[in-house]
Order: sequence, then C-alpha cells, then structure tokens
Amino acid sequence: MTIEISGLSRVYHAKRGQRAIPALTDIDLSIGEGELFGILGPNGAGKTTLVRILTTLLTPSSGAAEVCGHDVVREMKTVRRMIGVAFGGERGLYDRLSARDNLLFAAQLYDVPRRDVARRVNEVLDLVDLHERADSRVETFSRGMKQRLHIARALIHDPAVVFLDEPSSGLDPVAARSLRDLTKELQGRGKTILITTHEMFEADILCDRVAVLVGGRVRQVGSPDDIKSSVTLERVIEVEVRDELGRSEADVRALDGVSGLDIESRGPVNLLSVRVGNGSSTRLVDVLRAIPHLSVGSSLERTPTLEDAYVAIVEEQKDEVVT
Ligand SMILES: Nc1ncnc2c1ncn2[C@@H]1O[C@H](COP(=O)(O)OP(=O)(O)O)[C@@H](O)[C@H]1O
Ligand SMILES: [Mg+2]
Repeated sequence: MTIEISGLSRVYHAKRGQRAIPALTDIDLSIGEGELFGILGPNGAGKTTLVRILTTLLTPSSGAAEVCGHDVVREMKTVRRMIGVAFGGERGLYDRLSARDNLLFAAQLYDVPRRDVARRVNEVLDLVDLHERADSRVETFSRGMKQRLHIARALIHDPAVVFLDEPSSGLDPVAARSLRDLTKELQGRGKTILITTHEMFEADILCDRVAVLVGGRVRQVGSPDDIKSSVTLERVIEVEVRDELGRSEADVRALDGVSGLDIESRGPVNLLSVRVGNGSSTRLVDVLRAIPHLSVGSSLERTPTLEDAYVAIVEEQKDEVVT
C-alpha cells in the first residue's frame, strides 16, 4: 500500500483551560499505488488535518501513518522526498516573482539535481499549461492559474504521491474543470493521488474510491457507486412551501420511513426535501397531506443523487452527536 493509516487520531489543544478539539479519531485507511483517492467531507471534518499529518507537517496524537512504507513521524525526511503537496489558496507562492522563478526556487528547496532543474521546470510548466505565462509575475495570475502553479510546484521533484487539498475550492467552473483534467492526467502518469473536496460531484467523477469523513471519523469507504448504494434511500420528495413549516415538521418526520428532512431557503420560498428510506410507502401525496395549511408551490419526487447520499451520511452523524 502506498498510504497506510492505522488508528490515527489528532487532538488540538487550543488555549489552556479550553476544551480539547478532537479533529481526527481512530482513522484506518489504505490507499494503493496509482489510486486517485478522495477524502470527502464538510468543512471542519478534519480533511486538512489528515493531509497535514500525511505530509509530515503535523504530528498525530496517536496512531501511525506510512507513505511508501515510511513512517511520517520517524522518517519525515524520506517521506518528504517522495511526496508533493498543494494546499492552494494564496500562501506559498511569491507574488513578485515569475512562475518560472517560483519553480526554480522550489527546485532548490527540494534538492533537484542542478543539471535537471531547467528541464524539470519546463516539464511541469507544460504539464499545468502555464508555459506561455511562465515569465509573468504571479501577482498577475488568475486564481485558477495560481492553483495550477501550486500543483506545478508540488510536482517539481517528481514525487510518487501527490496531495491536493481542496484544489478546486473557490475556482470558477471552467478553472475547476481544468484542474480536474490535470488531476486525471497526473494519475495517468502513474502518481498516487489523495485529493480532498467537499464537492460530491467532483469526487464522483474523479475518484476511484473515497472516504467520507465527518466529525473527524471515517463514515464510509468505497467507490462512489458503493457509497451511493450503501445509503438506503428510496427517493427524495421536494416541496416548495411559502410559509414556515412550524409544527407540521413533526408530522412530516412521523411519516412512514422518513429518514431525513432539510429545509433550505430559496429566495421567497423554502424548499422542503424529505428523504425516504427503502421499503417506505411514503409518496408525495402523503407529504402534502401532512402540511394541509401551508401554501405549496411546485413539488416533485425523484431518485437520490450522490449528493443526497452524502447529505444523508452527514446528517446521520449529526444525529449521533446529539443523542
Ligand atoms: N490549529 C488548530 N487549532 C485548533 N483547532 C483546529 C486547528 N486546525 C483545525 N482545527 C479544528 O479541527 C477540526 C478539523 O479542521 P480541518 O482539518 O481544517 O477540517 P477541514 O479541512 O475538513 O475543513 C475543526 O473543528 C477545526 O476547527
Ligand atoms: Mg480544509
């Protein structure tokens, strides 16, 4: 296994006297060579904490992790040579320098042999499609270009394993798509890739397998299709309502086989989504009957998407925390 995580936990101790925050609890995961593996989870799930531990930037509170057979704590230096990491955002790049100079600097940091440097820089510039802008200052780059440069930087020493922490976060759809293409291309070149995202559809189209992380625990592991079919959702019933649900919420929840309910504000209306489990007899008419006094807009019944499955897993976790 290229990445092997066993019993890994991490607690953050904020200020003295404050409650300790368990960011990761008892994580077990194995990721194979050449796999494109997704860590999927909502904000605060612990995704970045996990990436920071695997990339030797943070130590675990307990448990262990190995990358390419090397322990991330005891063999930190060896691990660092084998991995590349792109955290994204604005940090880590020198705005006043050109893309090429940023990469030359990174090549020095990673001890790329001097005779290889120029060739490597050109290779990664080509790979991320920044060759034409190689000599422009980074401060003139769009967010998507900066993100591609982050990835180029992570690849400068030709690592076997690449970590991408929310690479498409904050990008427009076109830039996000080009990053997904790049991620696939890296896999095509034999890299093992661990990517984090909170976008279900992104994980769905990109990843061989995903782990759904919620509240610092792995809730599900499998292919996107496995995850979809593991959630026993029969259908989703959606109703636009113009008023507050009030006491009717309890009536809807009490319908046969209702496994979850969300109310989302959409401008002048609220969208009520009711998730109905396998084998339930509840249909749209039953939901409408449970809210007789409400003014209702359009309504429909549909089959669940991967996003519904993800929401169901996240909600289930929340319920457990409360009880
Ligand atoms: N340096 C830190 N000190 C204290 N708490 C932290 C720190 N970094 C993250 N956390 C907390 O740990 C949890 C997981 O955070 P993070 O790994 O950043 O999640 P994600 O990347 O999935 O959004 C959150 O509750 C977050 O507030
Ligand atoms: Mg994060």
